[in-house]
Amino acid sequence: MLGNKRILLIIGGGIAAYKDLILIRRLRGRGAAVQAVLTKAAEQFVTPLAVASLTENKVYTDLFNLTDESEMGHIQLSRSADLLVVAPATADLMAKMANGQADDLASTTLLATDTPVLIAPAMNVRMWEHPATKRNLAALRSDGVIVVGPEQGDMACGEYGYGRMSEPEAIVAAIEAFFATEADRPLAGYKVLVTAGPTHEPIDPVRYIANRSSGQQGYAIAAASQRLGAETVLISGPTTLVPPPGVTVRRIETAQQMLDACEAELPCDVGIFAAAVADWRVDNASSQKIKKQNGALPGLQLVENPDILRTIAHLQNRRPRLVVGFAAETQDVITNARRKLETKGCDWIVANDVSPATGIMGGPNNAVHLVTAQGVEDWPDLPKGEVGLRLMQRVADALRTAA
Ligand code: C5P
Repeated sequence: MLGNKRILLIIGGGIAAYKDLILIRRLRGRGAAVQAVLTKAAEQFVTPLAVASLTENKVYTDLFNLTDESEMGHIQLSRSADLLVVAPATADLMAKMANGQADDLASTTLLATDTPVLIAPAMNVRMWEHPATKRNLAALRSDGVIVVGPEQGDMACGEYGYGRMSEPEAIVAAIEAFFATEADRPLAGYKVLVTAGPTHEPIDPVRYIANRSSGQQGYAIAAASQRLGAETVLISGPTTLVPPPGVTVRRIETAQQMLDACEAELPCDVGIFAAAVADWRVDNASSQKIKKQNGALPGLQLVENPDILRTIAHLQNRRPRLVVGFAAETQDVITNARRKLETKGCDWIVANDVSPATGIMGGPNNAVHLVTAQGVEDWPDLPKGEVGLRLMQRVADALRTAA
């Protein structure tokens, strides 16, 4: 709930601005007071009247409005809020913020503020992927700006990719996480390590062996861990996902690199091993691209990769207090999961049936079974975000009980 919180919403000039009308309603529904600043371009997409009606507040658009400046001024406007939310944060607004430019009310307010800022970027995929935007994003992150999204999907411009503004619900969730109190952060003070995604094991410089994995569940777990207050490190294989805000991401490609990255993050309190690690790597990987010859590829020698989960779970001194593995199976899910609990030496196994017919692999939902020494819990089919939150709440309960 956001009772008594004051949000200054800065609306940038992009088509995603239409979502702000819902965002304002959701924020107000949770008890927040919302004031809004519209850029000139934003006024092309949503009207000040619509925004004023929903915020039930005056809407600010002009830096050189004498009445506003004498009554309140952009400096005070920027400081009268508990949080500044920029949505949509266009490429232009992000560039201005990153470079400290201030040539209109929105950018001046953002430069004059000492209040935390959260942005929800939205732009065409090419603009999002442009090195300039990447530089600006990195600069904003290092300035402490909280970043929500963008999401992948169809865009108003007809293209597909990253650049869609996060849905109002996701933005509200990030705002709530920002305002969360100690009671909402039962993992505060703990360090959680999460592995996610596939690993890529090179055959030659252009080819690799990998498992199917979108990384979504691992990323959702990392997001939940962060939301519940843990210092969260996500060791991620190659994925196209946007890292959750506030999570430290270490990107790796191979299983060996994933193991090294995990060991470098020890000690930690909890290890959650959601990655789909390739079981084998090519021992005789070629340093040059292998040319097609007539017929088959001459023998690739596969050697077993280190089992990261098992290695960490068997550490003598630096074993995390709670080690959670995953078992993605296509048959005998529970039997295999129980066996894995023992062979891997972990405390819990999150097991699921990933047969193609379930649609779990790469899909938005997951139906898991939590297998522990105490027994098996069957969880309902839930969005992966919910599974992540439920799992991390269970982790928090387990740590509290053990303390
Ligand atoms: O043995 P299997 O791959 O089915 O076990 C799955 C669990 O083990 C997952 O938690 C996965 O992240 C972990 N694992 C690992 N290193 C490997 C293989 C699997 O950490 N080399």
